[in-house]
This record gives sequence, structure tokens and C-alpha cells, in this order.
Amino acid sequence: MDQSLPELSSNIPNHVAVIMDGNGRWAKKKGKMRVFGHRNGVKAVRQTIEAAAEIGVKVLTLYAFSSENWKRPRKEVETLMSLLASSLRNEFSSLQKNNIQLRAIGDLENLPSKAQKELQEVIEATAQNDRMILNLALSYSSQAEIVRAVQCISKKVVNNELSIENIDKNTINNHLYTFSLPDVDFLIRTSGEQRISNFLLWQIAYAELYFTDTLWPDFSKNDFYEAIATYQKRERRYGQTSEQIL
Ligand code: FPP
Repeated sequence: MDQSLPELSSNIPNHVAVIMDGNGRWAKKKGKMRVFGHRNGVKAVRQTIEAAAEIGVKVLTLYAFSSENWKRPRKEVETLMSLLASSLRNEFSSLQKNNIQLRAIGDLENLPSKAQKELQEVIEATAQNDRMILNLALSYSSQAEIVRAVQCISKKVVNNELSIENIDKNTINNHLYTFSLPDVDFLIRTSGEQRISNFLLWQIAYAELYFTDTLWPDFSKNDFYEAIATYQKRERRYGQTSEQIL
């Protein structure tokens, strides 16, 4: 059944994060190589970006490549990196046309220089766009991000730029890659796996979680709307009672 466009004006999550999973299994089911799944995954990326922008999501973070993904076979890593570079090139004009700003989080220096170059060009060119932020997690590990934040904060304490008593939640927030972004409201994972896989551990503290069996290359605009409709039915209590949040 087709899911109609969710109510545009009310209760749209500000920040949606997506663990795009199942490319390999999708390809295997079709008797193809894993990279065939990744190539088809790009179409689902496009659909999801369009759907999110259309309903007024403000930040869309996509888990495109984890720090652990570097351990995959060399050929697969190469394909993913070249897909990233070519997608950035191909989608650049569409991002501009739709007023979407590109950002990236993760250990970007580990990316091949070509991908880094494409990424920086699109980030700079779209910096003034303000309809939606498309945030790509690349060579990203949430634990590494937290370690990095602790190191930065510790240095400031040692240099007397910060006192231990003044370290609070905002201090940690301000030292994460996502420092200028709101916390995640809604986390979607495709492919039936129900785990977080080292993604935005701090930022999802109060996110609603959504798991679907759909494999990433099959994930369509309708699937995204269906997920959003589920989010809209959830009651976010942040530790309080239903009566208190009314
Ligand atoms: C997970 O499926 C998917 C990835 C590790 C990569 C996601 C990349 C893309 C969708 C293409 C390029 C991205 C952009 C942003 C242009 P998997 O390989 O882990 O699948 P499996 O669990 O079935 O093996």
C-alpha cells in the first residue's frame, strides 16, 4: 500500500540519521557481486535526500562509510570511494538547485585525495544553502569521535583554558564533529539488523529508533514516509510521564 506524504506541518523530525544497510545481501539475492548493491544503493540515497527535503527535515545524516569498513576487501573499498566521488560530482547541481548544504563528519583525512577534493568542493560551494543539511558520515566511528573530543577537552584543561568544574554536556557537544547540529530525533536502519554499529552514540541519546527489513537499494521515498509516519505516532517523553508532556 502506498504511504501518502506525511502531514507537512506537524511533528517532522528535525534531524534524521540513517544506517544504510543491506547492499551486499541485495546483490547476493540477485546473484551479483556486492558492488552491484552499492551502485544501486546510490539511487536510494537520492530518493531519501529528496523525500527528507520535501517534508522539511532540517538535517539528514547518512552513514556512508564507517571506520571499520576500511577492513573490507580492497576492491570493494575502492568501488565505494569512487562511487562517493562520482556521486558528489553527479549530484552537485541537484544539491544546489534544491538549496541543500553538504557537510561531512569523520576522519576525512583517511579518504583518497580525489574523494577529499570532490567533497571539499561541494561543501564549499553549498555552504550558504539553507533548506536542509545533508551530513555524510565518512570514515566515521562514534567512539573515535568521543575519544577525540576528550583529548581536545583535556588539552584545554591542561593549558588552563578550561576548568574541570565547567565541563558539562555542552562542552562535550561542542567538541564533537556534530557540534553545530541538533541531536538526532529519528534513527532509521535498513536490512533487518537491529544495532547501532558505532554511529552517533552521544547524539542519539533520546532518538526514536526505527528498524525495517527493507534492504537499502530497495528503500524508496514511500519507505521513508512510512518511517516518518511511525515516528509521528511515537510519544517522546524524555524520562517524563505522558501527563507532563501534554
Ligand atoms: C551497507 O551495506 C552499505 C555501505 C557500507 C555503504 C553505503 C554506500 C552507498 C549506499 C553508496 C554511496 C554513498 C553515497 C553517500 C553516495 P552492506 O555492504 O553492509 O550490506 P550487507 O550488510 O548486506 O553486506
